[in-house]
Amino acid sequence: MHNAAAVQAASSVEEAFRLMHKSLGRIVPEFELRMKAEIAFRINRLKREKNAIILGHNYMEPALYNSVPDHVGDSLGLARISARSDADIIIFCGVRFMAETAKILNPDRTVLLPAREAGCSLAASITGADVRRLKEEFPGVPVVTYVNCYADVKAETDVCCTSGNATAVARHLFAQGHRAILFLPDAYLTQNVAAEVGAKVVFPRLLGGPGADAIGPDDRVLISWKGTCEVHEQFSVEDVETVRKQFPDTVVLAHPECKREVVEKCDYSGSTSGMVKYVRDVDAPRYLLLTECSMGDNIVAENPHRELLRLCSHRCPHMNQITLEDTLDALEHNRYEIHLDPALMDRARASLDRMLTIG
Ligand code: 13P
Ligand code: SF4
Repeated sequence: MHNAAAVQAASSVEEAFRLMHKSLGRIVPEFELRMKAEIAFRINRLKREKNAIILGHNYMEPALYNSVPDHVGDSLGLARISARSDADIIIFCGVRFMAETAKILNPDRTVLLPAREAGCSLAASITGADVRRLKEEFPGVPVVTYVNCYADVKAETDVCCTSGNATAVARHLFAQGHRAILFLPDAYLTQNVAAEVGAKVVFPRLLGGPGADAIGPDDRVLISWKGTCEVHEQFSVEDVETVRKQFPDTVVLAHPECKREVVEKCDYSGSTSGMVKYVRDVDAPRYLLLTECSMGDNIVAENPHRELLRLCSHRCPHMNQITLEDTLDALEHNRYEIHLDPALMDRARASLDRMLTIG
């Protein structure tokens, strides 16, 4: 059972503290855990009173992740859960594009994001107007966008994807006979998916690339954009080699937002939940996670017998904005509510529905 479920059933602050201490005692200092347990207890009580659910991304800090979410997971898993929710209020402990996704799938429910400015460098890299210009350059080419984008981009999209199903979505479209796919906006995810499906990566003229001139009659092509994740782009081949020199038996896991040359050096690449499952299921002397650092703490809390190495200098400043304190404020004051234009949501929903059907 995910630790948070037991904490949510606690009948007193003291019991909540005891349960949190059991899983987090080695990770969070005791005095901090006492304060966090009190806030978590209040959140869990209020959540029941207001018929709210909390969805927590795998990157949430350990005290939050292990105390208040009704569900935790990656972008794909949480999107699926939000689509099935019958709560009056959905609080998304993640970043804005994730809360927008939940709102698009639940237009009649209140969706709250505890920190107003929890953004994402990938989502900020592209606009709906950019996608319209790309469609003019490549008429008739299907548009796949990574779910890390805002509603105006989703509204211009044929199929969304996440790190959990990007390859499946590309394969699906190639199997339907498409030879080229606009695959936006993460340049590194596009390279990693292209390698998996045997496609070539081409940059559009809009970005100074060769565009359609580089697409031969027998090519399978992913047309890329210039977005990058400000966290994952920092991991290097040297990082992997340095750790392997010291600990040759380390199993290295990388998120597919990492550069292609980094992913090639790794033993596994997958979504955040894919990595969680890998460490849970595959025995290894030690693991190195190339992703946001908090997730490593959450994996250690769940698997105390596993030894994890992490490079904690690379943190997501957006995910880190979400705290237990803000989550309590969100619940008490119904903030910050996600508002989107209903017509835009209808167009954006079609791309998410197709994603949920394909993979
Ligand atoms: P996942 O979909 O793998 O959880 O990734 C989301 C994300 O923002 C990773 O940086
Ligand atoms: Fe965006 Fe990267 Fe942060 Fe994920 S880790 S939310 S992709 S900036």
